[in-house]
Amino acid sequence: MSETTKRTRRYVLAERPATPTGSLQKGVLRYEEDVPVPRLQAEQVLVKVEWMSLDPATRSWMNDTPSSLPPSPLGETMRALGAGTVSASEHPDFAVGDRVCGLLGWQEDAVVNGSILRRVPEGVPLNASLNVLGIAGQTAWLGMHDIGRPRKGETVVVTAAAGSVGSVAVQLALASGARVIGVAGTPAKCTWVRELGADECVNYREDNVSAACSRLCPDGIDVIFDNVGGAMLDALLPYVAVNARVVLCGAISRHDGGRGPAPLHNWFHLLFNRVRMEGFIYMDHEARFDEIEADLLPRLRTGELRSREHVVEGLTAAPAALHTLFDGTNTGKLLVRVGHS
Ligand SMILES: NC(=O)c1ccc[n+]([C@@H]2O[C@H](COP(=O)([O-])OP(=O)(O)OC[C@H]3O[C@@H](n4cnc5c(N)ncnc54)[C@H](OP(=O)(O)O)[C@@H]3O)[C@@H](O)[C@H]2O)c1
Repeated sequence: MSETTKRTRRYVLAERPATPTGSLQKGVLRYEEDVPVPRLQAEQVLVKVEWMSLDPATRSWMNDTPSSLPPSPLGETMRALGAGTVSASEHPDFAVGDRVCGLLGWQEDAVVNGSILRRVPEGVPLNASLNVLGIAGQTAWLGMHDIGRPRKGETVVVTAAAGSVGSVAVQLALASGARVIGVAGTPAKCTWVRELGADECVNYREDNVSAACSRLCPDGIDVIFDNVGGAMLDALLPYVAVNARVVLCGAISRHDGGRGPAPLHNWFHLLFNRVRMEGFIYMDHEARFDEIEADLLPRLRTGELRSREHVVEGLTAAPAALHTLFDGTNTGKLLVRVGHS
């Protein structure tokens, strides 16, 4: 592939992490400067990356085992969702200045096929395309609409409720007329979940989740929107109502200190109460992203849908920021403002 005189910076996945969860040893990610930007082929687009998304899946993609997607290839730019502006185009649908998002990778300038890009709607900040209008909103919407399907008056419990997916899930459940109980890890996060309209929020680090459920959900839980799995999910299962739905959205607890996943002991409540428990991966539903956007965009524009961001500055801040998702110190959608010098 021929090169241009333009140079960029990026992180390459240089070796696999020694353990499937937990911190990364030195050498997993290699920072490269002065990387030549390839000349565009037909259908390709050069994007100046302005925002990059760090997601729990980012850590899984570094491993040698398939997760939501196949492993990020060794020796190539590390995979990530990003948003930016088209700076050159050989694709008929994209022109210089267009605002786009997609899998752009850990780099300042990305050459990608135009077919993988989505346009960011006019008037919407680029970063929203990685948050409420992107992975967080699409995931919460699909989990709630397809699996949770809360009805007026039902009780919904959302775990990691203050997070980017969780906080949208809380708001969508409230919009359907359900009673919503959040679970989050600090008093400040619980305050935010209540500000979003949740009826209650349990701080799982201070309160016993099981005891809180028996107090707060006297008629049982109709929908569990679970981002955590393991012991947290296990504590909720004894409270499922008849015909409840359990949305398996995430399993972030398996990253706990690198100890790996905890078993479920209370699975039999699913049987006795005729419960449907189902996992999903939002990327499988790309064909529906326009439909989801059409529902979420007006709510974003009117301010009905609220979100928080935890922004770190510069590409080189990304490796150290990743762990905040797993120790709970991120305070909203974890984004890197890529910046260019
Ligand atoms: N199915 C899909 O297609 C899909 C797509 C995107 C994301 N997801 C999943 O959705 C979940 C949330 O992702 P996100 O991007 O929105 O992240 P996030 O919620 O913004 O951040 C992660 C939060 O998880 C909580 N957490 C971490 N370890 C925990 C543990 N051991 N027990 C309880 N809570 C823990 C922490 O909050 P606290 O301080 O409250 O503990 C942390 O802030 C993840 O599991 C992710 O994998 C799934």
